[in-house]
Amino acid sequence: MLSPEQLTHEAGKTLRRLLPRLDSVKLKKRERAVLVQRLEDQFPRAFALLYALYGDQYDFYYHVQQTFDAVVRLYQQRPAALKELDAQRESDPAWFQGERMVGGVCYVDLFAGDLQGIRDKMPYFEELGLTYLHLMPLFAVPEGKSDGGYAVSDFRTVNPALGTMAQLADLAADLRARGISLVLDFVFNHTSDEHVWAKKALAGDADYQDFYRMFPDRALPDQYSRHLREIFPEQSPGSFTWNATLGKWVWTTFNHFQWDLNYANPAVFTAMLEEMLFLANQGVEVLRLDAVAFVWKQLGTTCENLPQAHQIIQAYNALVRIAAPAMIFKSEAIVHPDNVASYISSDECPISYNPTMMALLWEALATREVRLLRHSMSKRFEIAPDCAWVNYVRVHDDIGWSFADEDAAEIGINGFDHRQFLNQFYTGQFPGSFATGVPFNFNPITRDMRICGMGASLAGLEQGIAQENATYIEHAIRRVLLIHSVILSAGGIPLIYLGDEIATRNDYRYHDVPQKADDNRWVHRPAFDWARADKRHDASTLEGRVFQPLQRLIQIRKSNPVFAGNRTLFFDTGNAHVLGYVHNRQLLALANFSDFEQTVSRAVLDVYWPTAGGAVDLVTGTALAAGDVRLQPYQFVWLVAGDTDAS
Ligand code: GLC
Ligand code: GLC
Repeated sequence: MLSPEQLTHEAGKTLRRLLPRLDSVKLKKRERAVLVQRLEDQFPRAFALLYALYGDQYDFYYHVQQTFDAVVRLYQQRPAALKELDAQRESDPAWFQGERMVGGVCYVDLFAGDLQGIRDKMPYFEELGLTYLHLMPLFAVPEGKSDGGYAVSDFRTVNPALGTMAQLADLAADLRARGISLVLDFVFNHTSDEHVWAKKALAGDADYQDFYRMFPDRALPDQYSRHLREIFPEQSPGSFTWNATLGKWVWTTFNHFQWDLNYANPAVFTAMLEEMLFLANQGVEVLRLDAVAFVWKQLGTTCENLPQAHQIIQAYNALVRIAAPAMIFKSEAIVHPDNVASYISSDECPISYNPTMMALLWEALATREVRLLRHSMSKRFEIAPDCAWVNYVRVHDDIGWSFADEDAAEIGINGFDHRQFLNQFYTGQFPGSFATGVPFNFNPITRDMRICGMGASLAGLEQGIAQENATYIEHAIRRVLLIHSVILSAGGIPLIYLGDEIATRNDYRYHDVPQKADDNRWVHRPAFDWARADKRHDASTLEGRVFQPLQRLIQIRKSNPVFAGNRTLFFDTGNAHVLGYVHNRQLLALANFSDFEQTVSRAVLDVYWPTAGGAVDLVTGTALAAGDVRLQPYQFVWLVAGDTDAS
């Protein structure tokens, strides 16, 4: 092993040895200067990480050279417009922290048929106010089951049913011209079993068999399995799949047709780097790193969140900053909150889903109490100043109750029991529950389970409609708006699961589709209903009752710089039903999670946010009355100092 000093020396020496390779690459003088500068800045870091991962391999320097060549080649191929964007982003590294950032996520086919359809819907994205659009995996996949696109057969080919790579690059440029950043997935833990690498492996090519993790018998799989978590115990039990053609067990963390890549093989690292940079060169601005926790495996561990998983992502981070610095990583780690946080840094993933807040927003709606939400967020919301949460209430996946048991214990809640309660509540079994949700992957041994359902159904709209109860319907709509108000005002990038803005409910028709029936997540992945969306302009419809206020909240956020940044402080409002937080020391938000009127003492607020000069609620545009603050059921306020005499 090299000491840190030796490593720095070695990295410098290696770079000097590699730099002459640029002479055979066609680059403008200025481009070359930029590239050399970035290599000097980032290569030593990449080298050190690669050394930690692969330094003990006999052909380490060969792989370093392969990596270097890939970075240079893909930099050279990068379109001029994107190189301009690189420069712009390098001079404005906080671009994704602004108040104008508002995200939406959808499936291309379900939302608009194909890429042309997405292009035609550009006015809709603008009407809603989006500046960040995540199109879920749109690559070539196997016929039939493909885990909603997350079993990729070719990272460089768009699913022919959706369009072409050229169309995707054009779309990215069009979106960019309208101030919308394209976000795509990088499903890098696994490929489908129809990827060309898998096909070569199946044909007996040992080099490509080494791209995956394969075992001749159960000896090692059994040893590994002792510590592994089953992700899909119902639909795809175990973490290994027997392949008769190979006569081997293949590591398959997720579905049996999703083969885990073997990152212990440096050839996999470099091959996936090329796929990643290829996507960057199509105009992707945020790359959502799928299932980050699982990419490294080590016997005797849970094979989740291992140090090497971080080193791989950090090495990719350094290399992307050389070839395509406009693109940033977003982490998808749906794990214990400590581990979620461990991926967040400007040298790893500058942005990350906030699954803890997501789950606890639903927890607070169920309990009508904000204690656990407040307690966890006051411990865990703070991240590095140059990073951002992606705050959301729903996405295409299930809701897992991934809050920390220790957080719960600290306020006297038993995490295990609480999860049992939440699962009952959100499957509508708990007496008085408003929710209509569907169970996901019950594990009879751990009794673990997750929840599926569209936001509106989980919030009570389906029940309210079925019972023709106007109050239930009104409360459901308020719940939807309440939790969206939190993601729109707490620090970070709010992300809307498209369909939620028009109060889309569960769609049970997936039961009739053979390749979907065994995966309940399809209950919340319906085709976007444009006929219903058309009703959004009518404030008396359900669609309008959600869309219009939500659109207004988005506009308020985007027109007030106070919403920028990630400095949010959660505090105890003295009322167990009311969440309170101060953002940037200027905005005070209160959110009532109960179906009754609540009061927050002015004396408490004065501690966190002295409002001597009076305050205005941005939501209603009215001045805050003197005295204690009264909140209607599910009401929220966004208060800023205002020169009114109302105080
Ligand atoms: C991510 C995706 C999920 C998929 C899994 C495997 O968690 O969000 O939909 O099943 O990765 O790729
Ligand atoms: C697990 C994984 C997460 C994935 C989900 C899919 O929670 O940690 O990455 O999205 O399963 O259901």
